[in-house]
Amino acid sequence: MMTKSSLRRLAACASVVLILSTGGMGFANENAVQDKDIRKANASRYDEMARGVNAPIYDYYARRIKAKTGITKGVCLDAGSGGGYLGLALARITDLTFIFLDISQNALSKAKEHIVEDGLQKRARTLLADVHSIPLPDGSVDLVISRGSIHFWKDPGVALKEIYRILAPGGMTYIGGGKGTPEMQAQIRARLKEMGREKEWFRGGAGQRVQRDYDAILKATGIPNYEVITGGEAPGFWIVIKK
Ligand SMILES: C[S@@+](CC[C@H](N)C(=O)[O-])C[C@H]1O[C@@H](n2cnc3c(N)ncnc32)[C@H](O)[C@@H]1O
Repeated sequence: MMTKSSLRRLAACASVVLILSTGGMGFANENAVQDKDIRKANASRYDEMARGVNAPIYDYYARRIKAKTGITKGVCLDAGSGGGYLGLALARITDLTFIFLDISQNALSKAKEHIVEDGLQKRARTLLADVHSIPLPDGSVDLVISRGSIHFWKDPGVALKEIYRILAPGGMTYIGGGKGTPEMQAQIRARLKEMGREKEWFRGGAGQRVQRDYDAILKATGIPNYEVITGGEAPGFWIVIKK
């Protein structure tokens, strides 16, 4: 027969067992893995890949940008820079100075780390801003580059007009997305397979991307001198504007 006090002790013990087995019900919010933790882990993996196995892709586009625009001096803005991978690759083959603009403070923290790692403190700075409203003066930038970001912009027409505003006369853009040549992609995927990380080939974010008719969007902006490059040796698309 159980007494009242033994029942109370049993209830107390059951609560302790329950709390231990659930990791503490009272602290569920602290212990639960939040969406922001998952985003942070994905961003870290993206960063590690971009500076590691995917680095040749950024080097490749940096070479294409240099060849297409011929701009090697002045100010370059990397819009939606993330950790700064494309701009940093371009910094290695030009004398440009860089502004890495992103709407995410976490992304810019990574960019700052990489600027220091690459010894570019005197040639690069970060700017926390939205590409739809860029806090830079008219005509202050010679080259605007951007990879893998435009699909996430809410109103690319507004953003492109804003980019046009900050371009100096003779300034150019190279804005779009691509993952290098099929040969390069095959090599990287083979390397990822060796590492047991094949599923990480440009993971994350794809679901949020928006497919749009960029030619129609550009026409509507009234920007006079532009070209939309698709296909060629590397699948992808790029908007080249000349002011
Ligand atoms: C897929 S990442 C690409 C990062 C890097 N450019 C690359 O090629 O790896 C897209 C980046 O665009 C940024 N972004 C998205 N919308 C933006 C906006 N409206 N203004 C500025 N940055 C934006 C995100 O914060 C993110 O860092």
